[in-house]
Amino acid sequence: MNFNVEIQKLKDLARQAADVIEEHDYVRIISHNDADGLTSAAIMCRALMKKGIRFHTTIVSRLDDSVVDTVIESSAEQDLVIFCDMGSGQSDMISRISQEIVILDHHIPVGDSSAKVTVNPHLVGIDGAMHLSASGTTYLVAKALDAGNTDLAGLAIVGAVGDKQLMNTVNNTILEEAEDAGVISVRKGLKMGDGDIADILEYTPEPYLDITGNREKINEFLGILDLKGNISELSADEMKKLTSAIALKLAKKASSEAIDASIGDVYYLNKELVSNVYDMVAILNTCGRMEKAGMALSICMNNREDLEEAQNMAVEYQRSIVENINKALDKLQIGNNIGYLITQDMESTGMVASTMVRYINPDMPFIAVNQVEDIVKVSARGTRALVSNGLDLAFALREASKSVGGDGGGHNVAAGASIPQGTEEEFVSKVDEIVGSQIEVNKED
Ligand code: C5P
Repeated sequence: MNFNVEIQKLKDLARQAADVIEEHDYVRIISHNDADGLTSAAIMCRALMKKGIRFHTTIVSRLDDSVVDTVIESSAEQDLVIFCDMGSGQSDMISRISQEIVILDHHIPVGDSSAKVTVNPHLVGIDGAMHLSASGTTYLVAKALDAGNTDLAGLAIVGAVGDKQLMNTVNNTILEEAEDAGVISVRKGLKMGDGDIADILEYTPEPYLDITGNREKINEFLGILDLKGNISELSADEMKKLTSAIALKLAKKASSEAIDASIGDVYYLNKELVSNVYDMVAILNTCGRMEKAGMALSICMNNREDLEEAQNMAVEYQRSIVENINKALDKLQIGNNIGYLITQDMESTGMVASTMVRYINPDMPFIAVNQVEDIVKVSARGTRALVSNGLDLAFALREASKSVGGDGGGHNVAAGASIPQGTEEEFVSKVDEIVGSQIEVNKED
């Protein structure tokens, strides 16, 4: 199936969104603080700048009532409000906004939306969790605004890689367009950032290996392979030796998608400040997490000023994720149908949950429950194999959180929730029960 009809329908929606945008002089952009949300915002900012349309961008970690209040307070009646990477699941919340709204999102739509136009792959039968990111969706609108906006395709691919998507259907169309325009080059190799091999293996959380974070073991591993130096300077044979040795390590425990996520096509961004797509994703995610969204946007706008600081922050942040994963391993619990942990003040729970399900225990989805001050936040991650067996984490987390007085949602493969303090155990057992009814988990006795 080539999805040409669906892609055309999506482009028609993008055209409608572009028409609404062109009717406005001022746009209020609200987007998400991860790599996909930040690249979505940057694509829209760059497209609007080119059109001479003024804008004001705010990056948030989630869309809630306080964000809606901010939009209402800071927008004039004639302004256009654009939500990127959010808004599809919060129809009730955004109905309070009287301004015209455009939603550019890839989350599953819920309820009747008050938006004038929603561009969302799910509306045309394309899976937004895997085949189109918010940045890709926003790129289609940028292209509808100006066919010459192909230079923004690199950022669309960064968003897709950040959301661990597949380069199928629409993503593949964008990738081909980017390659044809010379915006992206593709080379086979390890899907990791650039730099000294030993350093990268030490601080990079993905792929998570049995040597990650342990310099002694890394030196031993590289010593046996007789490899050292910068990864970008390895010969083809040396790269093959390294990828084969890593593939062997992964084959022991990881999910098949983790292997795919670790070795294969690596994208190089020819028109952005950071060439390696994995370095770019790490920088953007770090800036988003550290509440330095301005820095992230400025890098996406090709402003070199903050680059070095952001690069250093990204290395330190990745190092801290590796430490967190290593600590989380001690707290891992196994239920009937889910792996989980209940903890406090853990950073980067999404990444911890994703590592657990991809690299440590791929037979069950993983739920990280983390209390921060008086809120308990939950991150849940699955694999594509589990999803094809029926797993729908968005449903499981929405229903389980609702049953304990919280709220949640997201995608079938990656979802989140907020739940009241004290309900952690009840919530986990509810998720376990719902997931059990969704999938046949193949447990090893
Ligand atoms: O926070 P985390 O990265 O784990 O969120 C994963 C997904 O779950 C995101 O798509 C996010 O929008 C969604 N989510 C949600 N409701 C929440 C928390 C997260 O819909 N309370």
